[in-house]
Amino acid sequence: MKIRTAFTETLGIDLPIIGAPMFLVSYEPYVIALAEAGALGAFPLPNYRTTDELKQALAAIRRATSRPIGVNIHLHGRFPWKEQLALCLEAGVSFFISSLGNPALILDDVHANGGRVYADVITLQQGLKARDRGVDGLIAVGSGAGGHCGAISTLVFTPYLAQKTGLPVVAAGGISTGAQMAAALAVGACAVITGTRLIATQESGAAPAYKQAVIDAGPEEIVTTAEITGNPATWLAKSIADFKERPALESKRWRDLWSAGQSVAQAETIAPIGEVIRAMVDDYRLAVQRLDQTLTEPV
Ligand SMILES: Cc1cc2nc3c(=O)[nH]c(=O)nc-3n(C[C@H](O)[C@H](O)[C@H](O)COP(=O)(O)O)c2cc1C
Repeated sequence: MKIRTAFTETLGIDLPIIGAPMFLVSYEPYVIALAEAGALGAFPLPNYRTTDELKQALAAIRRATSRPIGVNIHLHGRFPWKEQLALCLEAGVSFFISSLGNPALILDDVHANGGRVYADVITLQQGLKARDRGVDGLIAVGSGAGGHCGAISTLVFTPYLAQKTGLPVVAAGGISTGAQMAAALAVGACAVITGTRLIATQESGAAPAYKQAVIDAGPEEIVTTAEITGNPATWLAKSIADFKERPALESKRWRDLWSAGQSVAQAETIAPIGEVIRAMVDDYRLAVQRLDQTLTEPV
């Protein structure tokens, strides 16, 4: 089944679902499974330490699927983004999420290859700045999203950004079921990003204990704090408590501190990605039917 929006038509995908780029979670099997399920699989470029590793990963993805894929690119001097961009364009990456630096740096090259550039934003001010720099669309990262998150509810922020900027907006944060996707599309999102739910899948690169922690936690056990990275982000509270208890020599922040958003509420099994996406589509259909049944003519 397909769910059609302007976003799916432009990107050439079956479903308005982007499998989130997640640091140390989204690798080749994850991207391939999402693409084959009709969604857009994405990964963050910093997951690969060298451009050679990135090249090999892109080749592995392209051996398995020719469907559209996306990346999160950091446009900052610390990152070899020019080489990364060239490799991505060569491999036919058509969707770029910019989260650091100036997206205008890559617009011409991406557009020349038929791709699109969207910017992650958590405030209207960031959205207006990105629009002035020429991005094709915005990703409204709301409160409770996994990773670095905003402070505004996703269902409030998405239509607010769309109205004030006039750009297509992808909703991110707390969307992992079809009914939640229906709500996001209802308030004007052109697509959704799902992250947290996809940590607990067979194809995710998260450690088994991390996947299990996502299954076990409730949304009350997610804390938002800037303490870890300097910017507000969501974390499994237990992983922070465990980290503080362990002797410093045995701990590694990037390995032992686990980010996850409030969507842990809807993560109940470690399933294959194809199954999660199919369940989302089925649930979307039911949600739309349920809503349709609420419409009655006055007698
Ligand atoms: C563990 C984790 C790592 C993440 N790493 C990145 C990243 O490297 N780049 C990025 O653009 N977004 C990153 N995100 C944010 C996701 O791309 C996405 O916006 C978010 O997960 C959506 O909200 P949800 O988790 O409520 O579904 C990360 C999220 C999580 C949970």
